[in-house]
Amino acid sequence: MKEGKENVAEFKNGYEKIGPTAWGVAYARTLSGIPYAKEVFAEFEKLVNPTEKDTDYMESARRSRMEPFFEARFKLTNRLLKNDAAKQILEIAAGLSPRGLAMAETEPTLQYVELDLPEMARLKKDIAARLAKNGTATPPNLSFKEGDALDKNSLLAAVHDFKNKPISVINEGLMRYLSFDQKARYADNVRLLLEKFGGVWITPDITISIGTESQHSIGRIKELAGIDVGKNYFRDERQARMFFEDLGFNVERHGLNEVKNELVSPARIGMPKKEVDDLLTRVAFVMKLKS
Ligand SMILES: C[S@@+](CC[C@H](N)C(=O)[O-])C[C@H]1O[C@@H](n2cnc3c(N)ncnc32)[C@H](O)[C@@H]1O
Repeated sequence: MKEGKENVAEFKNGYEKIGPTAWGVAYARTLSGIPYAKEVFAEFEKLVNPTEKDTDYMESARRSRMEPFFEARFKLTNRLLKNDAAKQILEIAAGLSPRGLAMAETEPTLQYVELDLPEMARLKKDIAARLAKNGTATPPNLSFKEGDALDKNSLLAAVHDFKNKPISVINEGLMRYLSFDQKARYADNVRLLLEKFGGVWITPDITISIGTESQHSIGRIKELAGIDVGKNYFRDERQARMFFEDLGFNVERHGLNEVKNELVSPARIGMPKKEVDDLLTRVAFVMKLKS
């Protein structure tokens, strides 16, 4: 696939349609005690006009009982970010995540940049403006940028105001929508950023096909966006590790179960421990450039 305009056209025609998957995650987070999750979702619901297809997807997302998975993914990413302690964060494909809002507010010395495809980035700006009217101002150290993870120029533009100091690049819920070629191109773009600033790439997007949940979710996304994400999954963790190592990264792995004791959604949805454990078998990677 070529870079540039063709790329944008491709996303306009296909990938912007995965926006509703961001709603599903945002809904799940309302049950997680994560700061601003409820507020962001409430404003989002007032703003969107879903199609019938979108509504069907949302309904199936509500029934999927994946809340502990999304909560763990979010909380583990937060923990890994705090361990890393970089003061400049680029969150790619931020969607409706409230992380930037909460982190920028509690840590005024941070520079936090969120990036997403144009439609979603504009929606996020509208949500932030509505929250500001209700008393939750967007912190001055948080900004929302429109861009494409596969377009290195839009990533470079997003970090234009960063100082020449280490950064953390994060993405949560993006890479399963990218083919292996696209993942490699995206990894090259992240590598460019880490070569420029130094720092780490943190991602829980090590999507491995596990059980019937994966099959349901693959089917739902195919209906919604016409993308067969099943082709984009790693066979196992070893394949995922080798994929990123071959692209020039050192990989440190963390299990979602590391934040098991922080989870509040299992009790809220009445999920038995065994089912929660099954949802927490996936991993996140913290990656640095090989020296
Ligand atoms: C499942 S959502 C996850 C959103 C968010 N990270 C979260 O956890 O709530 C996937 C997001 O990826 C965004 N996305 C998809 N392709 C992208 C691309 N090429 N560049 C930037 N964002 C992209 C979508 O617009 C959507 O917001």
